[in-house]
Amino acid sequence: EQIMKGSYPHFMLKEIYEQPDSLTQTMRGRVISHDSSPDDVSRNHRGDVHLGGLSQRIGDFRRSSRIIFVACGTSFHSCLAGRQVMEELTELPVSIELASDFLDRETPLFRSDVCVFVSQSGETADTLEALRYAKKCQALTVGVVNVVGSSIARLTDCGVHLNAGAEIGVASTKAYTSQILVLIIIALQLSADSRAKQGRRREIHDALLTLPNLVTKTLKDLDGRMKGIAERLKENTSILLFGRGFHYATCMEGALKIKELSYIHTEGIHAGELKHGPLALIDENMPVILFAGKDACSGKVQNALHQVTARGGIANMLIVGTEGDSEIEKFSDKVELVQVPKTVDCLQCVLAIIPMQLLSYHLAVARGLNVDQPRSLAKSVTVQ
Ligand code: G6P
Repeated sequence: EQIMKGSYPHFMLKEIYEQPDSLTQTMRGRVISHDSSPDDVSRNHRGDVHLGGLSQRIGDFRRSSRIIFVACGTSFHSCLAGRQVMEELTELPVSIELASDFLDRETPLFRSDVCVFVSQSGETADTLEALRYAKKCQALTVGVVNVVGSSIARLTDCGVHLNAGAEIGVASTKAYTSQILVLIIIALQLSADSRAKQGRRREIHDALLTLPNLVTKTLKDLDGRMKGIAERLKENTSILLFGRGFHYATCMEGALKIKELSYIHTEGIHAGELKHGPLALIDENMPVILFAGKDACSGKVQNALHQVTARGGIANMLIVGTEGDSEIEKFSDKVELVQVPKTVDCLQCVLAIIPMQLLSYHLAVARGLNVDQPRSLAKSVTVQ
């Protein structure tokens, strides 16, 4: 086991640090640079994307009337992260479903629907059962799976492997960021023929290619900081995480990471819902983590910041912001501010989750807990 961990004390930390490489592997042969060599098999796709695993069914996928993502746990959060760009580029209605709830409701499905099953293991019982149900309804089924040869990979009509490498820590880290990338690459593939989307597609394509280096920088800049913050937060019994837009997923996944690793009660809350209940929890003792992107939601996030500040919540606040965001930097003497590098809006969530992965890891270590095997949890939940 120690050999597999290399120089890392835990699989989770190793997997967090593998992300520049796992993301590169996820994109290999799929996100093709503008100057790929002429003998590259992908030369026809220079400066674009190519997903071989979808090519047989891409026409059916494009002609569908609705896209439904189905997943559990962290994989569900990657669907939350990928949905907006899928909607934007395909102009199709995109819904996301917890596999368990999808089954409970016997959600109406049609042959014109595409169901995308997102699963690291490819064996999660609820997701697998939902796949069987979708097949019965004759929807087109697509797998986004890490484990090659797994049940979901085998039973879906077509799909995309994450190629993130084995993930051993129970808490998912590198699979999450690779899932987001795959969903975004699928959105790019589906919109390849849309003239109106070319500018936006190019912006995202080019940002994908620079992302691994930004992940490396984020890890280097923030690991020590997050360790210090974990020391300060480790005795707390509750932490609230707020985000919206592309960071709605980040606050949900950040909350899940912290609770499963540290056993501290956390809640991920859409920042637009503050006034509908959560504000009642805010006082100067409640730790708050706020995700602030420099994107279309910036003004609304600042509004949330003011609402929390007015209830004393700034006393114990961590903001995860973007480098160069002068509006948020104004608060840097009042709050703990960590900044991740700037990238295109829809990829900002890949960078902003990294300080949360590090924070949850360091919280577990500081509290003397089992990092790779949190109590009561399993890597793959194969019973319903
Ligand atoms: C378990 C794991 C989580 C994972 C979830 C879904 O709860 O502990 O890390 O996100 O299952 O697993 P899947 O393999 O379907 O992504």
